[in-house]
Amino acid sequence: MFRKLCNDRKVYHNLYDGEWVSSESGELIEIFSPVDGSSLGKIQSMTRDEVDRAIRSTKNNLETWAQMPIFERANIFYRTADILEEQAEHIAKILVMEIAKDHKSALSEVTRTADLLRYTADVGKSMEGEAISGENFPGGTRSKMSYVTRVPLGTVLAISPFNYPVNLSVSKIAPALIGGNAVILKPPTQGALSALHLAQAFNNAGLPKGILNTVTGRGSEIGDYIVTHPDIQFINFTGSTQVGRHISQLAGMIPMLLELGGKDAAIVLDDADLDFAAENIVAGAYSYSGQRCTAVKRILVPDTLADRLVERLKPRIEALEVGDPREDSVIVPLIDQKSADFVQGLVDSALRQGATLVTGNRREGNLLYPTLLDHVTTEMDIAWEEPFGPVLPVIRVKDLDEAIDIANRSEYGLQSSVFTRDINRAFYIANHLEVGTVQINNKTERGPDHFPFLGVKASGMGTQGVKYSIEAMTRPKAVVINLADPKAE
Ligand code: NAP
Ligand code: G3P
Repeated sequence: MFRKLCNDRKVYHNLYDGEWVSSESGELIEIFSPVDGSSLGKIQSMTRDEVDRAIRSTKNNLETWAQMPIFERANIFYRTADILEEQAEHIAKILVMEIAKDHKSALSEVTRTADLLRYTADVGKSMEGEAISGENFPGGTRSKMSYVTRVPLGTVLAISPFNYPVNLSVSKIAPALIGGNAVILKPPTQGALSALHLAQAFNNAGLPKGILNTVTGRGSEIGDYIVTHPDIQFINFTGSTQVGRHISQLAGMIPMLLELGGKDAAIVLDDADLDFAAENIVAGAYSYSGQRCTAVKRILVPDTLADRLVERLKPRIEALEVGDPREDSVIVPLIDQKSADFVQGLVDSALRQGATLVTGNRREGNLLYPTLLDHVTTEMDIAWEEPFGPVLPVIRVKDLDEAIDIANRSEYGLQSSVFTRDINRAFYIANHLEVGTVQINNKTERGPDHFPFLGVKASGMGTQGVKYSIEAMTRPKAVVINLADPKAE
């Protein structure tokens, strides 16, 4: 029976073979808002048999999709982008209530997703093959030519995190689909309602049935089954390092892209514009209550400069709007109590060990006020752990080399910022930092979405970013043509 995305009792269904279906398990997971505790809806807790059917459906429909000309695929992307823009306010409101993202950032997540879809469609249409002549290599001849194209891998499993359930779903789905793959989307449980609206946009835009199927259910319950499924050809995961490591150990010989945790450092040098640096650091550390993998999560600053920087940070932090994401507060309730307890524990522990409280350390339920800790030492957990909350440690260093050393001692290697007017020192530091990206005179951030985005060490494996993601989820196919000499006997 054809059903809508959700019914009047706000029971959400899953996209399967172009239709919205409920689970035979009869089990539903109720989604409550971290904003006001209200019930937002229920999602299906799918069975393993249903996971099998969802994956089999993609396998059965792959050939049709892979044969579809890329410009036709691209047109579906353009229509999906238009639908998302038409529904931007509606989906943003769901994001606000489901993940407590401030309305401005929620709206930006949806429009950014439409931009990503259009850009991916454009890049897809410019994907050319190549013809390589045998004569280019010693002993080779013109009679031998390799005709190389890029072909899809098969069914891609896309697993996305709670903090960008729309944009970090499409950052996987779009490059996978334009490359000719089919996709199984496993959205975050807290974020699934928003992500299912994305799937609806694809479906309403005319994506052929079975090319995108959704699988909802707790990752801790069905995750292992999905990631080890024999009919998954690629895993594209964004989430915590803990889960990413678990998946990489479990899934074995399967290509994957992992975007994991971070502990991005802002390194401030003695010639930096301190007001500019403070603006960037505050925006980078505290937007969406620091629930961003690329959030600034530590400051490394010469001891001789630290007081002047802290003087500029404090008023800016205290000016941040705290409270309700519906009113565009930057500091909003964290996603759940477990996360809030973890962040509070890091603050308490640092203070016990002698850190100085500059501002904050105030809590109302899961709402933590923006906190700045000074005189944090490398003996403290806050110097190394990823809080994923609105707390920022200041670690005072004696010089640039100590800053690089402490930055590199982190298990993470996502991004770092360097604030200086000296391009030579900026590049010296950038060349010595073990991270995926160094921002010179800017806060750490992923966008724009066509840039390469990668983590090294515990921050990930592989490179996201439109062109890079398409390459990761396709492979070369070579056809070698061997010509005979028509004049030969
Ligand atoms: P998470 O707890 O690791 O969950 C991420 C996704 O994995 C969710 O969809 C989750 O489903 C699923 N999952 C959980 N256990 C699984 C398993 N055993 N097998 C398969 N899937 C499983 O991360 P999160 O709390 O959503 O996001 C916060 C973390 O992600 C932070 O560490 C942050 O740094 C990182 N992150 C990194 C990036 C980046 O681009 N590098 C971007 C955003 C977030 P359920 O929701 O059902 O548990
Ligand atoms: O944590 C999500 C990660 O992708 C950060 O994105 O654009 O906020 O830097 P952005």
